[in-house]
Amino acid sequence: MLAVQDIHTYYALSHILFGVSLQVERGEIVCILGRNGAGKTTTMRSIMGLNPPRKGRVIFKGEDITRMPVYKIAHMGMGFVPDDRRIFPDLTVGENLEIAAKGGSKKSRWDKEKVYQLFPALKAIDSRKGGFCSGGEQQMLSIARALMGNPDFLLLDEPTEGLAPLVVRELMDQIGRLREEGISILMAEQNVKSALNLADRVYLIDRGQIRFQGSVKELNENEEIRKKYLLV
Ligand SMILES: Nc1ncnc2c1ncn2[C@@H]1O[C@H](COP(=O)(O)OP(=O)(O)OP(=O)(O)O)[C@@H](O)[C@H]1O
Ligand SMILES: [Mg+2]
Repeated sequence: MLAVQDIHTYYALSHILFGVSLQVERGEIVCILGRNGAGKTTTMRSIMGLNPPRKGRVIFKGEDITRMPVYKIAHMGMGFVPDDRRIFPDLTVGENLEIAAKGGSKKSRWDKEKVYQLFPALKAIDSRKGGFCSGGEQQMLSIARALMGNPDFLLLDEPTEGLAPLVVRELMDQIGRLREEGISILMAEQNVKSALNLADRVYLIDRGQIRFQGSVKELNENEEIRKKYLLV
């Protein structure tokens, strides 16, 4: 579904990603793990076209999207849930969703009702203003809003950041249900344990380079790698 091939990404003169390659197969949840500043967000922004790589390629559904504008990439079925959530605080939960539906295709697979089936907790607060939602509710809303664009591939940037353990567990269950709905996922995380319960495969990034790739089991068995790149 997605193949990132040897990308180099910069912010102005700062060289941030050094030949990152990774793949996500259809139906997979793949986790990209790494410490603060390792390059997780930059990798996602490179994929989504928000910060295109200067070298290397991004292939999505067999098409080279490396230099495609963001709206076209979104139209091809890629959704991005940024780490800062970007909920409209003055709009209600329902309005936040409706506004995202605008411009969607007519044969839209996801609508508000379907999204509420997946996130019943959101239905219960349909008329609450975004700014009055808890961190967990805002994160669900942020994912729900991305679904309104009918993606079949989602980039989730640290979805559990700042959430209480109980909320994290609930959110992870819901992300697992997205996979059952046929959505493939690339998720960035620092919160290793919760992500690993869900992920099919893992990449470990450090200082802009992939240092490990493998199954969750392989990472669990490799204490040296975990110590070196994950534990602070
Ligand atoms: N807009 C920017 N301009 C210049 N440097 C940046 C910019 N954004 C990020 N960086 C740098 O790029 C590197 C990678 O940052 P990135 O945000 O991709 O890391 P991350 O793994 O997502 O970290 P975090 O866990 O903090 O979200 C860091 O050294 C960071 O300081
Ligand atoms: Mg980040």
